[in-house]
Amino acid sequence: MSFEGDGTRVVHAGLPEPVPGQPFLPGPVFAAPYHLDPVEGPGTNGYGRPDNPTRRALEGAIGELEGGAVLAFASGQAAITALLLSTLRSGDTVALPSDGYFTVRAFAEGTQRDLGVKTVQVPTAGPYPSFEGVRLVLLETPANPGLDVCDIRTVAAAAHAAGALVAVDNTTSTPLGQRPLELGADLVVASGTKALTGHSDVLLGYLATNDEELLAKVTVWRAQTGAVPGAFDAWLAHRSLATLDLRLARQSENAVVLAEFLAGRDDVREVRFPGLAGDPSYEIAQAQMRRIPGIISFDLGSAERVARFLAASELVFAATSFGGLHTTADRRAQWGDDTAPGFVRLSCGIEDAPDLVRDLTAALDAA
Ligand SMILES: Cc1ncc(COP(=O)(O)O)c(C=O)c1O
Repeated sequence: MSFEGDGTRVVHAGLPEPVPGQPFLPGPVFAAPYHLDPVEGPGTNGYGRPDNPTRRALEGAIGELEGGAVLAFASGQAAITALLLSTLRSGDTVALPSDGYFTVRAFAEGTQRDLGVKTVQVPTAGPYPSFEGVRLVLLETPANPGLDVCDIRTVAAAAHAAGALVAVDNTTSTPLGQRPLELGADLVVASGTKALTGHSDVLLGYLATNDEELLAKVTVWRAQTGAVPGAFDAWLAHRSLATLDLRLARQSENAVVLAEFLAGRDDVREVRFPGLAGDPSYEIAQAQMRRIPGIISFDLGSAERVARFLAASELVFAATSFGGLHTTADRRAQWGDDTAPGFVRLSCGIEDAPDLVRDLTAALDAA
């Protein structure tokens, strides 16, 4: 039988068949070398860099959710740079979001430029240029931190018509929010550090694809460059995945309440949340996404006011990253994002909405 509910799918994702006396989710396998068959040599598990059963179980789980074969990486950046470095060659051009995760642009404008790869930057909301001569189009939707959304199907069709590959950074959405491979993307890359694992205790990345040639290429890339997650992190991630549906549901519920609350205050400007009717991303997000992640952005006018807000709040942790259990807020300009000094990305946690509203009210009043 196949079960469609998100809660059911994440709870059972990647688990082995039940065996009496064995755990539901086997514990982490810590091994660098494994015993080899003295005659046959390497089998399924020869050495820990290419082979680890705990990592394979996690990859199976994420693969069920994304709808493709998955390779796990030590971080989102390790997955994204694996994609860029294994598909692009000197003379190629890559199209990247101008408003996406800034470290990807920094890598493209540094290491990749030095290797002879050209970059064109495109805003997520468009307009999209002709993709003639472009080898790879990387989309990030919703884009972090501005939360613009693009129509994956339409952009992928245009990119494919020009002969380009299409990859989507699915970090913010998670595979429960959208499945880019079904929308026409050739590859998915993501940071599992955020909502996918959601407990602010693991760095993880992954790449997913149904293209066997690309999969083989990146598998060799990962085995040779070695950016693999350790067994304990892979196991923690798999364990955390089981609650993804519940965590996302509460985060999104809280985000609806907080976005409406923030939009109703006259001392908070530019509130963005793709789940808020009237938001520039609302229509496409409703049409394309299965659920809206619990991330909101807004502008408090100055760095000083953000500092006063964060100091006054009892529940909102000042922290970067997003998608975790705890509500956090990050003034993005302090990291080098091209955002206004008072621009804040708020990641809604799984606390109770009335408590968050009370805390935010007091903190904004004090700020
Ligand atoms: C959209 C997006 N992609 C990729 C990354 C990189 O992930 P990691 O920090 O796991 O390397 C981030 C990190 O913030 C991100 O927000």
